[in-house]
Amino acid sequence: MTRTSRRTVLAATAAAGLAVAAGAPAHAAAGGRTPSKELFGTLADGTKVYRWTLANGGTRLKVLSYGGIVQSLETPDRHGRTANVSLGFGGLPDYVAKSPYFGGLIGRYGNRIAEGRFTLDGVTHRLPVNDGPNSLHGGDRGFDKRVWDIEPFTGRGEVGLALTRTSPDGEAGYPGALAVRVVYTLTARGEWRIDYTATTDRATVLNLTSHTYFNLAGEGSGSVDGHLLELAASRYTPVGATLIPTGELAKVARTPFDFRRARAIGEAVRTPHEQIGHGQGVDHNFVLDKGITSRPEYALTVADPGSGRVMKMYTTEPGMQVYTGNFLDGTLTGTSGRVYRQGDAFCLESQHFPDSPNQPSFPSTVLRPGDTYRSTTVHAFSSR
Ligand code: BGC
Repeated sequence: MTRTSRRTVLAATAAAGLAVAAGAPAHAAAGGRTPSKELFGTLADGTKVYRWTLANGGTRLKVLSYGGIVQSLETPDRHGRTANVSLGFGGLPDYVAKSPYFGGLIGRYGNRIAEGRFTLDGVTHRLPVNDGPNSLHGGDRGFDKRVWDIEPFTGRGEVGLALTRTSPDGEAGYPGALAVRVVYTLTARGEWRIDYTATTDRATVLNLTSHTYFNLAGEGSGSVDGHLLELAASRYTPVGATLIPTGELAKVARTPFDFRRARAIGEAVRTPHEQIGHGQGVDHNFVLDKGITSRPEYALTVADPGSGRVMKMYTTEPGMQVYTGNFLDGTLTGTSGRVYRQGDAFCLESQHFPDSPNQPSFPSTVLRPGDTYRSTTVHAFSSR
């Protein structure tokens, strides 16, 4: 695909029409229906973008072939009423022109790499700088702006999509041809699981994540200040003015970053602290007490007292970026036609720590030929 300029999207058809049978096996499991797809829009170079719909156990997920974007995620409240709990847009042009990574599949490197530069095996690699002096979320055209191949599947009470793409050697400055496979699964228990795997033909660095903006009261319903966050992290990585970690693993005790007991997000972001100033709220990587694990283990619970919706997250990753929607500034109009303002959502990005390629004391993000990158994160939805 040729490079798509921000202003040259020709046309996009939103939701309406063109439902296409997915061709998946007919034995959809109990509760899960065979995934279906419809045309969502067309990129400037003529590439068609599809929207896939998955449903299981009361949860419904809509995913775009552009960027692996979660365009909608519906879950039931305590009365069984569903709402879309993820911020997004109704049509493709907004995703191409102005999305702050809404729902995006992030690669090659989630979060920041200082000054868009790292050295691996004695060779210095330069990356596109797209966030002040730093490279953020894979540079100006990361995985969230690439078109993915998608195959649906059903079975064992689950429905899902396998997204695949080979990122060529040198793409966005990163070494190695990287074969990536990301599987989104909806289980009968109301879980959305993401399994990431990747292999490379040259040593490289890698940190994949998902950038869904959540509002458990429903996107466009206002602030998430009243949501309660409980996070199993005794330490976090403080940052400098451009949000690059200082290298310290600081204790959360007696700081606004202490979520070891459930606390309202709005209270934390209004507690004076130098670090809150740097991020204009919480925009920090937390060091999960469980560390790196081979199976997804408990990381956090977030609850909306109004709707009763609860989301728990489990991950194999050692870190979690908590971002409280600080840079939403009232200039974007979302899926249901409401304007998004600061603090109208939060992101919870399972990850290795930011800037790890330049921070030898952090867990390594290097992937070498012959090894397989594996990462799993589970979002478990319920209500109370
Ligand atoms: C970062 C924020 C950034 C946002 C992009 C988050 O992962 O931590 O600083 O603004 O992504 O919208």
